[in-house]
Amino acid sequence: MCGIFGYVGSRPDAGGLVIEGLKNLEYRGYDSWGVAWKEGSAMEVRKDTGKISHLNPEDFGGDTSHIAIAHTRWATHGGVTKVNAHPHLSCDGTIAVIHNGIVENFDELKKELTKKGHTFLSETDTEVVAHLVEEEMKKTNDFGAAFRQACIRCKGRNAFLALHTQSQTLVAARTGSPLIVGVGSDGYYIASDTPAFLKHTRTVQYIDDGEMVVTDGKHILFYDIATGEERMKREIAITWNPEQAEKGDYAHYMLKEIMDQKESVARAVNQDEKDIETVAKAINEAKGTFLVGCGTAGKACMAAEYFFSVVAEKHVNFAPASEFKLYHHFLKPESLLIVVSQSGETADVLEAMRVAKSKGSKVLAIVNVQGSTIAREADYTVQINAGPERAVASTKALTGQLAVLLLIAYALTGKLKEGKKLLLETSSMINDMLNPRYVERLRQLSELIKRKEDLYIIGKSWNYPMALESAIKIQEVSYIHAEGFAGGELKHGPIALIEQGTPCIALMGKDEVTTDMISNATQLKSRGGFVIGVSPQKYDAFNEWIKVPDAGNAQAIVNIIPIQVLAYFLAVQRGKDPDMPRNLAKSVTVK
Ligand code: F6R
Repeated sequence: MCGIFGYVGSRPDAGGLVIEGLKNLEYRGYDSWGVAWKEGSAMEVRKDTGKISHLNPEDFGGDTSHIAIAHTRWATHGGVTKVNAHPHLSCDGTIAVIHNGIVENFDELKKELTKKGHTFLSETDTEVVAHLVEEEMKKTNDFGAAFRQACIRCKGRNAFLALHTQSQTLVAARTGSPLIVGVGSDGYYIASDTPAFLKHTRTVQYIDDGEMVVTDGKHILFYDIATGEERMKREIAITWNPEQAEKGDYAHYMLKEIMDQKESVARAVNQDEKDIETVAKAINEAKGTFLVGCGTAGKACMAAEYFFSVVAEKHVNFAPASEFKLYHHFLKPESLLIVVSQSGETADVLEAMRVAKSKGSKVLAIVNVQGSTIAREADYTVQINAGPERAVASTKALTGQLAVLLLIAYALTGKLKEGKKLLLETSSMINDMLNPRYVERLRQLSELIKRKEDLYIIGKSWNYPMALESAIKIQEVSYIHAEGFAGGELKHGPIALIEQGTPCIALMGKDEVTTDMISNATQLKSRGGFVIGVSPQKYDAFNEWIKVPDAGNAQAIVNIIPIQVLAYFLAVQRGKDPDMPRNLAKSVTVK
């Protein structure tokens, strides 16, 4: 949450460069934006509320500056106003700070600094950092040293980036929220995620928790914040390319990423077989395996409970990462925690993982973002290789997660090749499904239901978590009230909500629960529900039928595809921006 990007180096267009890169971080927050650059000896600042896509990089200093920072905000402290937008400045205007996280003790620091004569302009927690560094600068003339002292005083999980005009230096510190250095031939880039600078460099250095960096554009030094000792860092090459992070001819990233699934599921499946077997061995040897994730990734974990049961006769427990606190009492050194996360930075997931590690348990991470904190801290990591996912609503990451989890379920019983074959067939089914006629059919269906305010989705077995996921997808982009239920639970309460014409979606496969699901769909229809069946076969219970291929144990993967497309069109038809839903941000790094 909140996007941070800064540059210092030989390029003279630093202001425009950071604004351009910031557009690739807008998925992290889009309440307001701000930029600061050094022009001559002065600090130039622009900020405003709203989105940044319309901004012209040329309007931010032209060829006058070699150092700049920029920020896109997801508000925590202080309303969404121009004054509260970052950067925030010291009283003398020589220090500008941008921030992701929450300075938990900001109130106390603000009172202390106010007593010392500092004037605050905003309601944010971030502003205290600029003044705190200014105060520390009275004791030392070294910006890096002053910044380190300020960081030591700030509580919470944070990432800070600061620009000092006098020393022409950028300083960044990480105490819980992600920050990555891009090493360019023309200077250093510092961002909360790599898409900000992929166009300029694919060589990175990761700032770990408790570390800070100081750079003047020619050199960069890493330090331990607590001790001040210098740290050595490796340079790492990342494989994502800038084109993968662009939306090309698509109107929205969400649609582009739905379409990417023609190939991304196959990429998730094409794993090194030895790695998957190693992971399967760890699960087989563990005494107690837990799966945790949040939101959509959590629904992939829940589906995996069914995969592991049906394919491998293996019992695993799922808990939403935010609920894991009361489960960790079970953890032992022989336990295994499987964490699933697209971003690899979600605060609740990281916390669950760290608790597990503190109990001596091993952690397997299934992630998308290369080099993310979760990927680096886990004992075993499997990448889903979906490529950059920019839309806030997760689509291709989900199907990649499902594919990897199902593959592991097959590997648990020594049937990895069988699983791979099924999943590669599933991938080509998805390729066939996402043709223009199919997409148009779903657009027309969205026309039929776009004015409804309530929508219910039912499913059984692995289609139950997919019903919950369908609800998330529809809610977050179209703002229709959507809810998912287990088909059999309907008659225990939710069926009271069904009225004449209420849209209901039934997610089905050809399996041992099909007969029960037909009966559940019929119960909905006979109460006046307008039943949309997503199923390989047509039944009388359906008012509308969306055909999906019969994918056997991979049915969850194909069934969610038409729902993603439907959710996308519902958002567009209702005039909403599917890429930037209100109140949300991708990569939830606060708790
Ligand atoms: C919904 C969505 C979220 C994420 C959740 C976890 O479309 O994207 O529910 O799935 O915030 O994020 P990651 O997977 O990055 O841990």
